[in-house]
Amino acid sequence: MEVLRIKASDTYPIRHKMLRHNGTVEDCIFNSDNDELTFHLGAFVDKKLVSVASFYFERHLSFSDTYQYRLRGMATLPEYQGKGLSSALLKTAFPVIKQNQCTLLWCNAREKAMGFYTQVGFHATGELFSVPQIGKHRLMSITIE
Ligand SMILES: CC(C)(COP(=O)(O)OP(=O)(O)OC[C@H]1O[C@@H](n2cnc3c(N)ncnc32)[C@H](O)[C@@H]1OP(=O)(O)O)[C@@H](O)C(=O)NCCC(=O)NCCS
Repeated sequence: MEVLRIKASDTYPIRHKMLRHNGTVEDCIFNSDNDELTFHLGAFVDKKLVSVASFYFERHLSFSDTYQYRLRGMATLPEYQGKGLSSALLKTAFPVIKQNQCTLLWCNAREKAMGFYTQVGFHATGELFSVPQIGKHRLMSITIE
């Protein structure tokens, strides 16, 4: 397995399949995907891209940290789940986020994925909330040391 920086557009097929399968590919293009401080990581197995995650310089007002990153579009193809690929993407991202002077990484975690985020060290804040067409989410975060 290899973790590499990828382009925003490389993430779209996995985002579409795993996160927006009822939508169009256009629904997989997120605001800020091509901003200067945004970065996208991919895990490759036998040269095939099988897991993606994207990181945005974006502050959530629930947290006092001045400089924060947001995690979006985290997904691993079903047959590759549970093998540590998403964890490997996060481990690669943490030093990059720290290097950008940020001390917190947050995400709106799907209810189903909360177990994963808890397992890798995120903590939940606030109540569950609904995102139309997608379902229940909870704000979660991890301090970057
Ligand atoms: C959530 C998801 C990204 C995790 O990816 P993954 O590559 O399978 O994650 P990892 O293998 O790195 O898992 C790390 C740990 O979390 C655990 N874990 C993974 N998914 C979990 C879940 N839904 N609930 C509880 N624990 C989970 C793993 O068992 C592993 O535990 P271990 O360290 O004891 O072995 C993947 O299941 C996925 O793509 N789900 C569908 C899309 C989605 O919901 N994305 C999140 C949007 S917010």
